[in-house]
Amino acid sequence: MIYQAEQIYLLHTEHTDYMFRVLPTGHLEHLYYGASLGSEEQLTPARIAEDADAFAEKRAFEPGNEVVYDQDHKTMILEDMRFEISSYGKGDIREPFLEIIHHDGSRTCDFLFDHAEICNGSITPLATMPCAYAEDDSASELIVTLKEAGTGLTLELRYVVFPKEDVITRSSRLINESDVPVRLLRLMSLQLDLEYKGYVMTTFNGAWAREMYRNDTTIIAGKTVNSSYTGSSSSRANPFVMLSRQDTTEGAGECWGFNLVYSGNHAETAEVNAYDKTRFLSGINPQGFSCLLEPGEAFEAPEAVMTYTNRGFRQLSHNMHHFVREHIVRGTWKNKVRPVLLNSWEAAYFKIDEGKLLKLAKAGADVGIELFVMDDGWFGKRNSDNVSLGDWTPDPEKLPGGLAQICRKINDLGMDFGIWVEPEMVSEDSDLYRAHPDWAMTVPGRHHSEGRNQMILDLANPEVVEYMTGQMESVFASAPIRYVKWDMNRYMSDVYSPYLPAERQGETAHRYILGLYRMMKALTEKFPDILFEGCAAGGNRFDLGILSYFPQIWASDDSDAYHRVKIQEGYSYGYPQSTYTAHVSASPNHQTLRVTPLETRFNVAAFGVLGYELNLTDCKKADLEEVKEQIAEYKRHREMMQFGDFYRGRSHKTHTWTVVAPDRKKAAGMIVQGLVEPNVQFQAYRAVGLIPEARYHFYNRPRKQDIRNFGDLINTASPIHVKQDSALQRVLARFVTMPGEKEDRFVSGAALMNSGVKLAQAFSATGYNEEVRYFQDFSSRMYYMDADEAH
Ligand code: DGJ
Repeated sequence: MIYQAEQIYLLHTEHTDYMFRVLPTGHLEHLYYGASLGSEEQLTPARIAEDADAFAEKRAFEPGNEVVYDQDHKTMILEDMRFEISSYGKGDIREPFLEIIHHDGSRTCDFLFDHAEICNGSITPLATMPCAYAEDDSASELIVTLKEAGTGLTLELRYVVFPKEDVITRSSRLINESDVPVRLLRLMSLQLDLEYKGYVMTTFNGAWAREMYRNDTTIIAGKTVNSSYTGSSSSRANPFVMLSRQDTTEGAGECWGFNLVYSGNHAETAEVNAYDKTRFLSGINPQGFSCLLEPGEAFEAPEAVMTYTNRGFRQLSHNMHHFVREHIVRGTWKNKVRPVLLNSWEAAYFKIDEGKLLKLAKAGADVGIELFVMDDGWFGKRNSDNVSLGDWTPDPEKLPGGLAQICRKINDLGMDFGIWVEPEMVSEDSDLYRAHPDWAMTVPGRHHSEGRNQMILDLANPEVVEYMTGQMESVFASAPIRYVKWDMNRYMSDVYSPYLPAERQGETAHRYILGLYRMMKALTEKFPDILFEGCAAGGNRFDLGILSYFPQIWASDDSDAYHRVKIQEGYSYGYPQSTYTAHVSASPNHQTLRVTPLETRFNVAAFGVLGYELNLTDCKKADLEEVKEQIAEYKRHREMMQFGDFYRGRSHKTHTWTVVAPDRKKAAGMIVQGLVEPNVQFQAYRAVGLIPEARYHFYNRPRKQDIRNFGDLINTASPIHVKQDSALQRVLARFVTMPGEKEDRFVSGAALMNSGVKLAQAFSATGYNEEVRYFQDFSSRMYYMDADEAH
């Protein structure tokens, strides 16, 4: 709901309020963003005005050595005021929201209020980019129009309120209504001027195979910038960031979460000024950006998302999760459970052909796989990553009957069929590049740099977008393809569009993203039932722009279960688990060579969208039986695993995650440890989010342990001596197993949450039986909790 009381605007959600007012000069003064100021009935115009008056800074005389706005407003020191937007030239010397070079070369801007329009119950989408949407009339929109004092420039600020999720979004649009061109150097999406300093800025940074590491920086002075200049939202600096008080924890304290519905270069800046105020800005990264606006042209900035809570990071994550699930992800797969897939990449890499894939698929069908995905290597002459990107015809040597034949054969095994594509790229060794060298993003006359031996297609060129959309349409229509993994394996270099004139080259990276969105829109609309999965060498483009078209994204090329805990936990702050995919892969792991138990590989992957990516045809029988049980177990719980509420953990000495069904009557909890320590046998699992009054059945699925895991300790119990790695040990292992511990008890929700269940003692040197937990390096356990309806 949006209220107006005279010159004050109040944006109201279930638990938060956001307030600003129009000053007599026409500037927009930010007044408040925090916990709720009252219920809808209490928010009368008089009360809003009283609160606004309390929030407004009181100024009687100007401080020394300051630029004042003008002689009639000598207490208006723009450097020290809190604004909805800021620009350069009238005394605000902080990072600006907007920066322009006028026709005469000057840079001063002064945007002043003109009019505003409130629309409670409906919202208008952005014209050039994806944005959040509402399926009902719960969202409201406010458009504030400002005019630049010295020119005919118009700035529209768009605010959208999503009350249930406690989310407010912002975007902006600059329209050149003057009769001369201007050069836009930046137009950010969101500005939030907070009082005080000392906030903690949490960013999620990384690189290939180690995305989303959480980093906390306390902002005391100067600027802290989280930004990507890679052409994609990037694994280096995800656009999701948080600000919090220094004492905020998972369960308590103030925090603000921000994200951007955008997949390109972005920047999130927190700056402390000379008066201990903190300005936060987010939007398209101004570095390398400029846009020429001819008379009549407009530029639209992407939508930024913000949420506030005083109930800690857990609540912040839930606000973001609900918002992403409800207002970003759309289409057929929005609320539909995702199939368990088997992907060919780590099983076979480029060495694929129909026979080999069908053998793999058959092994998958036997254990319950629902979707078989043929990854890279199926087209052109693609036997390595040097060639053929751009030539999207099946390799007849590998697929003699094309996509249609392999798809039919996979379908005959009772599974759906999916494929991998990388439509934004071109190999130098490809028919496409030979025919259209000017379609690649390179600077004419200069040596170009490559990433993974490939170049980027110039999606700033509409002809290229149209051509590649057509190519993809033919591929997707050539067989009943049910799933597409859309990859993008390098970041930008030689950023230059041969299609654009010199004076518009600063628009290239942004126009590329707009071209990409047009392509994604056309293809997802034409093939609404295909499950699309985004990918950029793993998580190099994990953002709300991609999620506006594709409901899930491959979170990382790192499939090491233990390391994945850190990555998936990073994502969990801003993204729901239905958006990140996770696969059970081989051990030793292909990225780290770490050996992890199959149980841990499953448990960690089950907290994302589960898939498998290993050569099942090489697996031991016992492992295949375990995989079959895992898949059956996952299918029983997957609705909750994919769409339930995710909680980061609370247990001592282990890493813990819990997922709780929306009615809180079912939950799954996982503990995972790093390196085992001797004599630390006593661990507990502590739940979050349950119904305290309910009685839960708490249980696990006991697994038998291979005697080889106990090395020569087995001789303490064996009547005959068993040498390690001997034929005798192998034979014995086929017939003799060690029991796994069983957890099976009833316990109240209150007990589970207040103290938790003390688990079976972990092995620690002195003995082993069915009451002992075999819990070695990188071990984990999954526990289920079902409310006992009889109570
Ligand atoms: C990078 C992806 O992240 C991998 O999963 C795989 O699809 C390869 N590309 C294929 O080239």
